[in-house]
Amino acid sequence: MYICIPVYLGLHSCGSYLIFYENSFEADFTFAETAVADFQGGSLRYYFTYGSPAQLLERYTELTGRAFLPPRWALGYHQSKWGYRTEEKVREEAKAFQAHNLPLSAIHLDIDCQVGNRAFTIDPDRFPKLASFTQELRELGVQFIAILNPGIKYSRNSNLFLEGQILDGFCKLPNGKLVVAPVWPGWSVFPDFTNPKVRRWWSRQYQYLLDVGVAGFWHDMNEPAAFITSGDRSLPKVTQHYMEGRGGDHREAHNVYGLLQAEAAYESLCQYSADRRPFIVSRAGWASLQRYAWTWTGDVECTWAALRTTMATVVGLGLSGIPYSGPDIGGFQGNPGGELYLRWFQMATFFTFYRTHSSNNVEHRTPWTYGEPYLSIIRQFLELRYQLLPYFYTLSWEATQKGYPPVRPVFWGASDEPAVWGVEDAFCSDRAPSAPPV
Ligand code: GLC
Repeated sequence: MYICIPVYLGLHSCGSYLIFYENSFEADFTFAETAVADFQGGSLRYYFTYGSPAQLLERYTELTGRAFLPPRWALGYHQSKWGYRTEEKVREEAKAFQAHNLPLSAIHLDIDCQVGNRAFTIDPDRFPKLASFTQELRELGVQFIAILNPGIKYSRNSNLFLEGQILDGFCKLPNGKLVVAPVWPGWSVFPDFTNPKVRRWWSRQYQYLLDVGVAGFWHDMNEPAAFITSGDRSLPKVTQHYMEGRGGDHREAHNVYGLLQAEAAYESLCQYSADRRPFIVSRAGWASLQRYAWTWTGDVECTWAALRTTMATVVGLGLSGIPYSGPDIGGFQGNPGGELYLRWFQMATFFTFYRTHSSNNVEHRTPWTYGEPYLSIIRQFLELRYQLLPYFYTLSWEATQKGYPPVRPVFWGASDEPAVWGVEDAFCSDRAPSAPPV
């Protein structure tokens, strides 16, 4: 998991409750006769509320904030692949959707569209006229979405590195040295998003990409992840953070790192692209991520077991306040086979974030990869999804007003019914149940 949110719901036939711990330190939760929450630091501050699941989510999101209404296109289908290296490849993909008579709302570009995998770059040789290209795609009804990682290339040839250094904005060790770790651009340093000055600087970076028509961003590797072979594959626990001025270390900052990056992006999109609703997807986050971003379930395996777990994860994210989420349809690493891809596609038709994505070393995966009968069935489900867009839009609006997740557990309207408490292989998206008076 890339996201840990210390909130849980207790279901009981005599009434249900929700507890949220406002503590971002690492914790262990055990549920047996009694529930134990064991945090490695921080203060014991928690919120308790009781009622039906709908009432619990309404109160939890009153406290942590509610999602924003997404642009309508975001509720359509997204195609992604680590492998769209050139403008021509992206154009071909958008046209192939047309040729196969399949609707498409967005194409997501991965790190290979960048210069040396560096944040806020798009290779000008391979995408020579980005503004007119994003316009051309928009005319086909397709939005251009760019990836962003927080790690900045540790090099004097990187403007972002120089700017961040002048701001004194990168994470450091207690001895004052920069934390440097390997990620996609090579040796990298990490902006300290717990510093408002750093967030403002980061926010400004989105502007030129927005100006050339990039419609949204997916934030990856923002736990932050580092390619370290042993121990925590993130920043060292002793890494110092500004923590809004009071100071702290990575034990406390780790879980909020991606959340605060998302906040910076959200502020940026609201400011520099004020006439469009923000679209940001973040792999990492914490309580209240819903205020700024969607999420996806990361590098899931191409297995039936992963398909099954995805359902519980998406329902769980919804019950943790995050209404917009979904998996890499078919799984990330590997080739799923026609039936597994189809089943995954069918399931994701009823999730909010509806995106196929796959790694750079697997077979190119699209709705037509497996031929017939898969293609025709996938087309039917895509058409169904687009017919249901007004319904998804209404569910989204409800999430903005009440915090109800669009993808709901089966116990949503029957939380006093023990027979449905443990159901993890089904979900529903009913309109709000009529809540009993408390
Ligand atoms: C990470 C992401 C994945 C992406 C890859 C390359 O593994 O989770 O979605 O394709 O990095 O950027």
